[in-house]
Amino acid sequence: MIEFSRVTKQYRKRKPAVDDFSLAVDVPIFGFLGQNGAGKTTVMKMIVGLLEPTAGSIMIDGLPSASAAAKHKMGYMPETPYFYERMTGMEFLGFCDALYGRRGGGTRVAHYESLLGKVGIAEAGRFEIRTYSKGMRQRLGFAQALVNDPEYLFLDEPLDGLDPLGRREMKEVMLGLKHEGRKVFLNTHILADVEEVCDEVGIIHAGKLRFSGGVREFCAGKPIEERFMETVAAVAEAGEVNNHHA
Ligand SMILES: Nc1ncnc2c1ncn2[C@@H]1O[C@H](COP(=O)(O)OP(=O)(O)OP(=O)(O)O)[C@@H](O)[C@H]1O
Ligand SMILES: [Mg+2]
Repeated sequence: MIEFSRVTKQYRKRKPAVDDFSLAVDVPIFGFLGQNGAGKTTVMKMIVGLLEPTAGSIMIDGLPSASAAAKHKMGYMPETPYFYERMTGMEFLGFCDALYGRRGGGTRVAHYESLLGKVGIAEAGRFEIRTYSKGMRQRLGFAQALVNDPEYLFLDEPLDGLDPLGRREMKEVMLGLKHEGRKVFLNTHILADVEEVCDEVGIIHAGKLRFSGGVREFCAGKPIEERFMETVAAVAEAGEVNNHHA
């Protein structure tokens, strides 16, 4: 279970990017929805320990999320992954595995091959990353998030830059992870993807949690786009300013 309690993040003197955010997530696939600048990446970076909350706490299975014990349970795919261009895909996975402390010792060639196969770039593993297309990079980013066999996957817009078939394939991978008993926390602004794969959704707008619960409950019989726009518009009417434009 992931538990946020009264989490706030303020970048210098700006309006808080995340504002008094409390939530418990305990479903296989959680979709974290919000417009550009809503605060999704900030929340995810705080979970994985790349940013420190200004106030509040985040716990994973009762452990502080930034602790080494919690990090052992996590895999993270950043919004804009950084790669060593001269490494091959296989070398990169070995490198990431070593960073995580490599369970069992030695490079795990079969493990890396199976991960590359899982994300649909088995053949590309022996080529240097500088030759990869955008979608191949995205897939490699996904594979690296799985290298330490994590219980929790934190994926920041993992379907970005993928073609329609790629999106479908990666959604299948996420459902596969769910069936393996892992938990996925997915940042996205694509409503249809949430409807397809997520068990619950959280809606963030201007740094505040506006809804969390079942997708059906959120939709209440309406198209998800309509409900999303209503949720966001309700905030604008209440006179709050979107961080993005602040
Ligand atoms: N390093 C930073 N310094 C100052 N402000 C920041 C920084 N990173 C993010 N912000 C601000 O925090 C707010 C939330 O940004 P964040 O990246 O979390 O949004 P997001 O929901 O992930 O958006 P997107 O869909 O565009 O990825 C924005 O107003 C942004 O300008
Ligand atoms: Mg983001």
